[in-house]
Amino acid sequence: MPEFMLEIENLRAFYDKAEILRNVSINVKKGEAVAVLGPNGAGKTTLIKSICGLVKCTGKIIFNGEDISRLKPHLRIRRGISISPEGRRLFPDMSVEDNLLIAGNGNREKLEYVYDLFPRLRERRKQRAKTMSGGEQQMLAIGRALMSEPKLLLLDEPSIGLAPVVVDTIADAINRIKKETKISILIVEQNMHLAFEVADRGYVLVSGEVVREGEVDELKDLEEDYFESS
Ligand SMILES: Nc1ncnc2c1ncn2[C@@H]1O[C@H](COP(=O)(O)OP(=O)(O)O)[C@@H](O)[C@H]1O
Ligand SMILES: [Mg+2]
Repeated sequence: MPEFMLEIENLRAFYDKAEILRNVSINVKKGEAVAVLGPNGAGKTTLIKSICGLVKCTGKIIFNGEDISRLKPHLRIRRGISISPEGRRLFPDMSVEDNLLIAGNGNREKLEYVYDLFPRLRERRKQRAKTMSGGEQQMLAIGRALMSEPKLLLLDEPSIGLAPVVVDTIADAINRIKKETKISILIVEQNMHLAFEVADRGYVLVSGEVVREGEVDELKDLEEDYFESS
């Protein structure tokens, strides 16, 4: 049994000729939550898209012991990778419940788990996604990603645009997922507060390069203004 759920080695990602990620090597152990912290434009979303097979890149991506670097996106999903994307990408005119069921092939058991995790979604289950608040939409995006029973959950800036109290709700839910399931988590964030609340380990990504890594406790000296000044 491989120790790692995800091993990324010397990843370089490109848009046209522009190199966006330079020799990025990161890993996530089974059952671990890892944060990639970085300022706007650092390459966090590009990293997530590379894992999903949506960006031209070189290097190795090993998922659960298998090299998936050349696999098509839908096959990576089938292997057990699930994403809560930047901007949430919900079906805006569909109900909360239909957004969830469509992602989970009608799996009612998973639906109950998601409702248990986010009671607000149960209350709002008939409501159209686009009429929900930003925080509720983020809960729905994470809930939807859970519906396919992933092995690896990718979270792209779940805290963006949310009030601190809502960020805390999201953090509590992620910590419950960690405790109650075997899902490994990779979260990319600008918000250190959320990352430090949920992650075991972290990497700091600046201009497409990993400039620091360590246990979350070792990274806590990063100041809130670290990214603004970099
Ligand atoms: N589709 C694209 N085409 C060209 N450049 C892009 C594209 N998407 C992102 N970029 C550039 O890649 C860099 C990293 O972007 P991104 O991965 O979105 O960063 P982050 O998610 O950390 O804010 C930025 O300089 C951005 O302008
Ligand atoms: Mg981004």
